[in-house]
Amino acid sequence: MKFFADTAEVADIKELQDAGLLDGVTTNPSLISKSGRDFKEVVKEICGITSGPVSAEVVSMEHEQMMKEAEVLRKIADNVCIKVPLTIDGLKTCRKLRADGTMVNVTLCFSANQALLAAKAGASFISPFVGRLDDIGHSGMELIADIRLIYDNYDFATEILVASVRSPMHVLDAAKIGADVMTSPPSVIKQLAKHTLTDKGLESFAADWAKTGQSIL
Ligand code: G3P
Repeated sequence: MKFFADTAEVADIKELQDAGLLDGVTTNPSLISKSGRDFKEVVKEICGITSGPVSAEVVSMEHEQMMKEAEVLRKIADNVCIKVPLTIDGLKTCRKLRADGTMVNVTLCFSANQALLAAKAGASFISPFVGRLDDIGHSGMELIADIRLIYDNYDFATEILVASVRSPMHVLDAAKIGADVMTSPPSVIKQLAKHTLTDKGLESFAADWAKTGQSIL
């Protein structure tokens, strides 16, 4: 499963890239606002750190305007992936951009039927938001399993990009279902390395090593 970082914080992106844990980045208008930085500038900087897809989201609601915004965004770098909302205008934009070979991530997906439409529009990625579904008492992971089944039934090439990931359990469940990609805050990716028995084992190895009085260097 590919790991994308859901952030516009460049220092975090660099850290994950250096650890070999980064396959791409997703941003959205809220993350750009949180960073306090210029949208195009920060997308350019991120595209220089990873060669993987970097999602940059259009903000217009209407197809022609989305196309104009996408024109600007896709010129930033070859690895920019245009993010469009799951609306009829967004799907129209997706289809048109895909015809030109531009990567497209269809976002704000909350149902399997929406995911079916995105695949029919030729999306490179579909972004179902699992955390936000869990928040309202639905099962985000059931949605991922349904989309996996439907895409496999019809051999759709659209990659399932599990979004709104909030915990290591989300990552594990998504991997078991066979999702292609997950995007999460960098803190969740770092949490995957943590285990209390690892910490405990390290502590006892360090204590026993000290008793030997030896040094490797
Ligand atoms: O980038 C979209 C998605 O990952 C947002 O997550 O936590 O705001 O629901 P969240």
